[in-house]
Amino acid sequence: MCGIVGHLGPSNSVDIVLEGLRRLEYRGYDSAGITFLNNDGQLETVKKTGKIENLAGELKNVNTESMASIGHTRWATHGGVTDLNSHPHSYGHLSMVHNGIIENADDLRDELIKNGFEFKSETDSEVFLILVYSLLEKLSLKEAILKAFKMVDGNSAFVFINEKSREIFAIKRAAPLVCGTHATNSQAVLSSDPYALIGAADRIYFPEDGVLCHLSASNKELISFYDLDGNPSSDYKSQSQEMEYDPSDKGDYEHYMLKEIYEQPGLMRSLCQFYFDGDGKKLLKEASELKPERFHISACGTAFYAGLLVRDYLEGINRIPCVYELGSEFRYRNPILKKGDVSLFISQSGETADTLASQGECKEKGVPTVSLVNVEGSSLFRGCDYNLLIRAGVEIGVASTKAFTQMALTGRLLSHALSPDYGDTDKEKILVDKFSLLAERVDDVLHRVDVIKKIAEEIYNKKGYFFTGRGQYYPVALEGALKLKEIAYVHAEGYAAGELKHGPIALIDEEMVNIAVVGPELKDKTISNIQEIKARKGIIVGIGPKDRSLEKISDFFIELNFDGLDELSPIYVNVVNQLLSYYMAKFKGTDIDKPRNLAKSVTVE
Ligand code: F6R
Repeated sequence: MCGIVGHLGPSNSVDIVLEGLRRLEYRGYDSAGITFLNNDGQLETVKKTGKIENLAGELKNVNTESMASIGHTRWATHGGVTDLNSHPHSYGHLSMVHNGIIENADDLRDELIKNGFEFKSETDSEVFLILVYSLLEKLSLKEAILKAFKMVDGNSAFVFINEKSREIFAIKRAAPLVCGTHATNSQAVLSSDPYALIGAADRIYFPEDGVLCHLSASNKELISFYDLDGNPSSDYKSQSQEMEYDPSDKGDYEHYMLKEIYEQPGLMRSLCQFYFDGDGKKLLKEASELKPERFHISACGTAFYAGLLVRDYLEGINRIPCVYELGSEFRYRNPILKKGDVSLFISQSGETADTLASQGECKEKGVPTVSLVNVEGSSLFRGCDYNLLIRAGVEIGVASTKAFTQMALTGRLLSHALSPDYGDTDKEKILVDKFSLLAERVDDVLHRVDVIKKIAEEIYNKKGYFFTGRGQYYPVALEGALKLKEIAYVHAEGYAAGELKHGPIALIDEEMVNIAVVGPELKDKTISNIQEIKARKGIIVGIGPKDRSLEKISDFFIELNFDGLDELSPIYVNVVNQLLSYYMAKFKGTDIDKPRNLAKSVTVE
């Protein structure tokens, strides 16, 4: 989704911002732009729809020497994908970028138009810029931003650059924002994603909501913070920047998604190491001290489906009841939150607005909050009482793969921490061995990828796809269908295998494919469900254990060995679904790492 980068320092500001924007590319966007303070002390803006390379191409035609600049990648919400709607927006001596949504933009715009101001774009963002400008007659820029901020509704981050003095202001409400400084390079930077700051900052600051960050060349510290009344504020967290940027890119892989699928066995193995022998021990101990009578699980998309597996662990192994709800629905259902409840949020980015909204609701109601999260230091991480890191590393492919696996496995570790087996070294060894067995089996699937590729080639051009599974395989049927939709742009649905006959079976004909996940549990019943599809000429891709009747009924068959995997089996099957989607998308020729219309981190509700 939208990305922000800003820089102020002795040199090459535009290069640094452009590099930052490139690092945010994976989040999804449809236009990009930069405003910089040029050698004549004037703000100059270049913005273009399409890829960052279009912007970089335009920038080659101008002298970009600059010591202060702000940049943005836009994922359109208010107003079409046009150069004019792209950010930064400018008015007078100000330029601004914005992430998020201003909910009362229409009312404010009407008022400003009445007062004689003219708008160039269709965006809600420009409303904030002009609102600030309109207040400058009586107020300083700092005061005007603070006043305007109090007048807007919704979750947003705003960043301003001022032509009159080499300074940048930033402020946010429930939207990601991080600032940083580099002691030796005397530069200050900011972004919506710490990933953009790696190398550019050695100390980073996470401001709380409503804290105004002021980056100024005339300030010895380079950054200062103010509260909503304009007084100095210490309401931010500061830490040294320890993330590493690995520009090794895709290595020998054609896409990040494929690379990330192949990283999974290694990540599975190192997760146990982290939690049983490494720094994660402390986190697991904290989790083991929770006394949940009931869990509320909330997440979005792939993270939600991983949450369904986590629910199966917590209910099946621990017998702790779980209520689960999509992040976007949670607080609007007026959830019943009781004493003894614990809320669990699952997220790769830790910045998903809907998940954060659910977390905010639980926090407000005094329910302890726990996260399974990938990005340390993200808003979810900072907002929760307890965090278990899923340790997936940076996930660049927009379609989530390795994060799903790590979420489910970390959920299994949470279930272990809450069980009587916690602290029993023999029992722990059994669990670690099971994780290793899973890694081995996934390795084996990755070595047999040619079978999956061949099937993908046979089925990629069919009319529609049903992923089905029962019991613990139902969540991976949902996730399989989501993956295929996202990257191959075909219609796919996930169904509980027993449910197709209650309606969707009307769609089955010789052009419809049923990707049927069959585990050792409920095997015969699931095979009966597949018979119903076969009888109506549907094409069957069977994924399951060696079984004569399953092989016979399948037009294509992928044999898996479930022995000893038990509750980890769905994660194993899911890797097959990931590869199937990947190769179908490849045969279709889509943009696999950056599928159309999608954003990696969805920071609007
Ligand atoms: C699917 C996908 C999305 C995310 C969802 C939540 O491949 O990536 O469905 O899973 O937007 O994102 P996080 O996990 O960052 O909260």
